[in-house]
Amino acid sequence: MTPLVGKDIVSAFDFERADLLRLFKLADGLRGEIEARGTLDYGRGKVMITAFFEPSTRTKISFQFAMVRLGGVVVDFIEEVSSLKKGETEEDTMRILDGYGPDVIVIRHSRPFFPHSVKDFVKAPILSGGDGTNEHPTQALLDVYTMWREFGRVDGLTVGVMGDLKYGRTIPSLSYMLTRFNDVTVYYIAPKQLQVREEILKKVEGRIEYHMIENVEDVIEKLDVLYVTRLQKERFEDPQEYERLKGTYVISRGLLERHGKIPVIMHPLPRVWEITTDVDDLPQAKYFEQARNGMYVRAALLKEVLGI
Ligand code: NCD
Repeated sequence: MTPLVGKDIVSAFDFERADLLRLFKLADGLRGEIEARGTLDYGRGKVMITAFFEPSTRTKISFQFAMVRLGGVVVDFIEEVSSLKKGETEEDTMRILDGYGPDVIVIRHSRPFFPHSVKDFVKAPILSGGDGTNEHPTQALLDVYTMWREFGRVDGLTVGVMGDLKYGRTIPSLSYMLTRFNDVTVYYIAPKQLQVREEILKKVEGRIEYHMIENVEDVIEKLDVLYVTRLQKERFEDPQEYERLKGTYVISRGLLERHGKIPVIMHPLPRVWEITTDVDDLPQAKYFEQARNGMYVRAALLKEVLGI
């Protein structure tokens, strides 16, 4: 039995280094099996509910595809046409969904710590698909899996993370997951107003080497990976601030040609304007492949949590 059977995953810190390396290998194995056979039988008889209280394309669909490819069944809760519209609370909604006996529930919510607040009364294991500005642990899983596939290791990598480091939830989870590896250096690249929050730095202090800088041009040559994020428009308190900062952090083919080659460029997506589309055909643009990797590594996670 693996250590993740029946476990709630609400933080990137819920994974130990050994869990990550095991999941990455399992994801590669499942990739091969799915490519060869399409749909597998591990998940026969198992049911996953996706309960997303906030928009999603990749996280929800890749979890659903992962479950279907494992041979399991998916039930999707759709907020817009649910009794939430009649005033039912989200907590009651979760009790009801859990009461039907799913084997696992994937939750996304705009409120930080929503998954944590329901996990003690929900019997099914809960996998967080993102909670407000707090964390997005399975995104970190596919991000670090992508790095591991590209370099054959994660130890020793130098990673620049750029964009909205203040409101983006992929950044805390990625930072926390990188603490599980040795000699990782992270450059946090953002204007002062969007720099990474103190509470996040406290949790990585002494476990990764980090630097906070304003201009990507200053470090481009040192980076193994540049991880770009969008400005989280929906989380800005002041819309004028968004307008002011918009366009300050754009990666274009011209910039890459001027300032040197970065081996791997990633983005959790959705991309809005922060990577121009002329970067897409460069061999180091890995963001679409990164999104596809999400399906395989989430299949690996489901297989372990379900104990199948
Ligand atoms: C991210 C998210 O929802 O936090 N998207 C995703 O899951 N791939 C990133 C974002 O919305 O900017």
